[in-house]
Amino acid sequence: MMSTPRPGEAPEVAGRTSTPKDHRFRGSLGRFATGVAIVTFDGATKRHGITVNSFTSVSMEPPLALVSIARTAKAHDELAGRPFTVNILGAEQRYLATHFAGRPGHEPRWVEGATAPRLAGVLAYFECRPWAAYDGGDHTLYLGQVVDFDYRHGDALAFANGTYTTIPDRELGMEDLL
Ligand SMILES: Cc1cc2nc3c(=O)[nH]c(=O)nc-3n(C[C@H](O)[C@H](O)[C@H](O)COP(=O)(O)O)c2cc1C
Repeated sequence: MMSTPRPGEAPEVAGRTSTPKDHRFRGSLGRFATGVAIVTFDGATKRHGITVNSFTSVSMEPPLALVSIARTAKAHDELAGRPFTVNILGAEQRYLATHFAGRPGHEPRWVEGATAPRLAGVLAYFECRPWAAYDGGDHTLYLGQVVDFDYRHGDALAFANGTYTTIPDRELGMEDLL
């Protein structure tokens, strides 16, 4: 999404030359630290994966999750109406973030999920059925209904100020505190 240019790349704004204000806007948004996820799904002719940090939990009942996908992304059009998995990356999976952000490296290992493909060994995953899509300017907000999920323990991969960092695992998780 707009707040997340590929690390080290100049900011771009679709359809026009980016301005110092755009740069400042991105920088401001980048102060919001996030996790790193990969949206995976089977398109009409090929399997897609795209690195995102726009993942947001939306609703508990029904369980809904959201990702914001740039209209310019190759996966954008094909995601409409298709089931998808949100794969949350662990600290040691930065190579997957890079792989699915336009810099292919090692071929990832896949797991055939019940509704959509997912990546092996991720920190957590949410398999989603398509729920709704909303206009998000130069992005589309895709909401999915979570139909399967799980997690493992381990340090999380995070993204803040235009760079990757890690968040240590804890003995107690949220589920233990609520
Ligand atoms: C940490 C990080 C977060 C990103 N978050 C998003 C996002 O939320 N939505 C999005 O559309 N692109 C996001 N991107 C950019 C896409 O991953 C990248 O543009 C994608 O590889 C484009 O795919 P394509 O080259 O196949 O079109 C992010 C990139 C990185 C490195």
